[in-house]
Order: sequence, then C-alpha cells, then structure tokens
Amino acid sequence: MQAFIPSAAALLASLVVASAVAAPKGDAEIRHGRYLIATSGCNDCHTPGYMQKDGKVAETEWLTGDAMGWQGPWGTTYPANLRLLVGSMTEQQWLIRARQPMRPPMPSPSLQAMTDDDLRAIFRYVKSLGPKGDPAPAYVPPGGLVMTPYLDLTPKNLPPVAAHH
Ligand code: HEC
Repeated sequence: MQAFIPSAAALLASLVVASAVAAPKGDAEIRHGRYLIATSGCNDCHTPGYMQKDGKVAETEWLTGDAMGWQGPWGTTYPANLRLLVGSMTEQQWLIRARQPMRPPMPSPSLQAMTDDDLRAIFRYVKSLGPKGDPAPAYVPPGGLVMTPYLDLTPKNLPPVAAHH
C-alpha cells in the first residue's frame, strides 16, 4: 500500500507535466505564425506605414489593412484588414480563402504555396492579435472612380509595340 502513494503522486506529477507541455505547443504554433508573417513581407502592404518606417511599427498595429490603393491594369486594390478578416472566419474558411486567386500586387502564389500547417499557424497568430481597425476600402475596377490616395503601378515608358500587318 505504501508503494501506491508515491506512484499516485508520480501519476499526478506526470499529468501536471503533460499539461505544462501542452500549453507551449500552442504558443510555438503562434510564434511560427508570427515568424511567417514577419519573414513573408505581409506587413509591407497590410500594415500602414510599415515599409516607409523600415518595419518600426508596433505589433499592435500589424495587419490592420491599408486605405492606400495600388493601381494598375487590374484596377485599384487595397490590402485587406487581416485582423478583421480572420475574426470573421473559421480556420477551414481561411484555408480555402488563402488558396483562392487574389489581384495584384498581392503575392497570391506565395500564400498558395504554403502548407496547411503554415497557413493554420498564420491564422492562429493573426487571431491572437485580436480584431482592430476598419475594413480596407472596396476594390475599384479599371477606369472606376478612386476616392482614396493610391500608388500608380501602371507600366510606363514601354518599348513601342511592333506594328501588326
Ligand atoms: C505587395 C503587397 C502585398 C503583400 C506583400 C501581401 N499582400 Fe495580401 N493583399 C494585398 C492586396 C492589394 C490585397 C487585395 C487583393 C484583391 O483585391 O484581390 C490582398 C489580399 C489579401 C487577402 C485576401 C483578403 C480578403 O478579403 O479575402 C489575404 C488573405 C492576404 N492578402 C494575406 C496576405 C498574407 C498572409 C501575406 C504575407 C504572406 C500578404 N497578404 C502579403 C497586398 C499584399
């Protein structure tokens, strides 16, 4: 009977260790999501002023979207507020959305090339930041009226097109 007491204590101890190990696993995934966001350039467009300030923007402001448009032959697009976006969807919806086509200059192929695990880590990290800010302005098709400041990415100074016969 005496042997039972230490082994119950050992069992309890191992349960405590198991739960202590479980928590940092979630944290590790969120840290991985943060790493992917930081190294994949998402903040360059989805965080206002990030490129101009050489990345010196408080993490609390990350991924809140931008009202500065990017105009080109595709029309005028706005980097989405990812904080509100992930707050409005399930993880499964995120995995589907992340693999759908998006307009330039969104590096859509980079997102599509990520594994489910990486996309999930991004989802969990952005979700951990919580919702913040306003939705980005709506897409404006080519020739439409643009009400916001925008960057002009229209190709210029192209070589003359060869004449058709
Ligand atoms: C060069 C600028 C740029 C970079 C870098 C960038 N994005 Fe985007 N992103 C955009 C723009 C612009 C849109 C809007 C595209 C559209 O209207 O179709 C967008 C759209 C999105 C959308 C779709 C939003 C919605 O409402 O469905 C997601 C998700 C997204 N980006 C995630 C990311 C992630 C994650 C990264 C980093 C891996 C990233 N973006 C990097 C510019 C960028």
